[in-house]
Amino acid sequence: MQSQRLDEGQPRRYAKSMSDKDKKARGAGTRLVEAGRRREWTQGIVNPAVWRASTILFDTVADLRAAVKKPNDGLYYGRRGTPTQWAFAEALTELEPGAGGTMLYPSGVAAIAMALLTVLKPGDELLMVDSTYEPTRAFCRNVLAPMGIATRFYDPLVGAGIAALIGENTRAIFLESPGSLSFEVQDIPAICAVARERGIVTLLDNTWATPLLFPAVAKGVDFSILACTKYIVGHSDAMLGSVTVTPEWLDPLRRTTFLHGQCVSPDDAWLGSRGLRTLAVRLRQHGEGGLAVARWLADRPEVAQVLHPALPGCPGHALWQRDFLGASGLFSFVLKGGDEAARAALIDGLDHFGIGFSWGGFESLALPVDPAGLRSATRWAAEGPTVRLHIGLENPADLITDLAAGLERFSAMV
Ligand SMILES: Cc1ncc(COP(=O)(O)O)c(C=O)c1O
Repeated sequence: MQSQRLDEGQPRRYAKSMSDKDKKARGAGTRLVEAGRRREWTQGIVNPAVWRASTILFDTVADLRAAVKKPNDGLYYGRRGTPTQWAFAEALTELEPGAGGTMLYPSGVAAIAMALLTVLKPGDELLMVDSTYEPTRAFCRNVLAPMGIATRFYDPLVGAGIAALIGENTRAIFLESPGSLSFEVQDIPAICAVARERGIVTLLDNTWATPLLFPAVAKGVDFSILACTKYIVGHSDAMLGSVTVTPEWLDPLRRTTFLHGQCVSPDDAWLGSRGLRTLAVRLRQHGEGGLAVARWLADRPEVAQVLHPALPGCPGHALWQRDFLGASGLFSFVLKGGDEAARAALIDGLDHFGIGFSWGGFESLALPVDPAGLRSATRWAAEGPTVRLHIGLENPADLITDLAAGLERFSAMV
């Protein structure tokens, strides 16, 4: 059989020749379907295929030397990625208007770590939101502090008041909105405006909303961080992280990432690309189901408070209404009274909710959470124990029936 260039004679529908203007004009669903599918990477296969590689062979020493000079421009060595990782990274960049590029990581925590190490050096101070994901707090304490980088925690509801916390050495502000476990919504545009004026870098853990519900870079954020493990992969079967940055931060982020030897397997990048195509429909369903369950819980006598950004009982709800394009399926509720055993009785007997860490997959989860011990700048004072729910793609009516029985088990023990 005669050999042939694989990209010969195929339609150029997803060619990179699409103008930036045309790319930006596409709706979110269209962008998700088309993003990253450059023909030279897919060779016409619909979803970018898995290219596994360590060694890349060159025809001549001259070719090898030329590649060394342009390591980010084509196949070079497996650690620098193959079309599988490039396609996924480019797709994530296309979801963030104004972004310069994306780096991939083997987990969300690795993404957070690399983003922070890109902007901070010994002597700097970091302002960290008090409602942050616990491993992010642990990274500040166990990695940044011994390096001589101080962390000052701040109230998630501080808004433009962040200006008063900025000191001589403040280099970066880390945001996570809504907050982990407690779901306070931050005034991200106000904080970013202050930061920009003072020459301070902003980093946002945008995992809850994804760029679909909160296009972070367009809203003024410099580093948009995702635990792709959650909604991007969407099926609870891979670990993955990403950092999407403004154009000026791409080279520094790439440098830190490569110096730390960070890379992602093509198989996991492929799962990320695959999940991305259905993100809009999944998120819509997670959002609708989540809101139905949250509203039902808000009317129950056993429930003291529902911490769902789309409900008025959630701190920062008005900011969510102003800034976000929708809600995903993760929220918490606080029980009225009751103790650990009563909460466990509620959760243990649930038929449709799994008990486990993480979220963002197609399945519902229930988790006992205790934010009180994770605060240093603010105080968490809840009336009773708290439960975090991830609402999956099941029928909300089934989940509500399940929770109603759970609340009865809880009541019987209060
Ligand atoms: C808000 C948030 N950020 C980051 C992470 C970390 O992601 P990973 O588990 O992929 O390291 C998580 C995981 O639960 C999370 O909830």
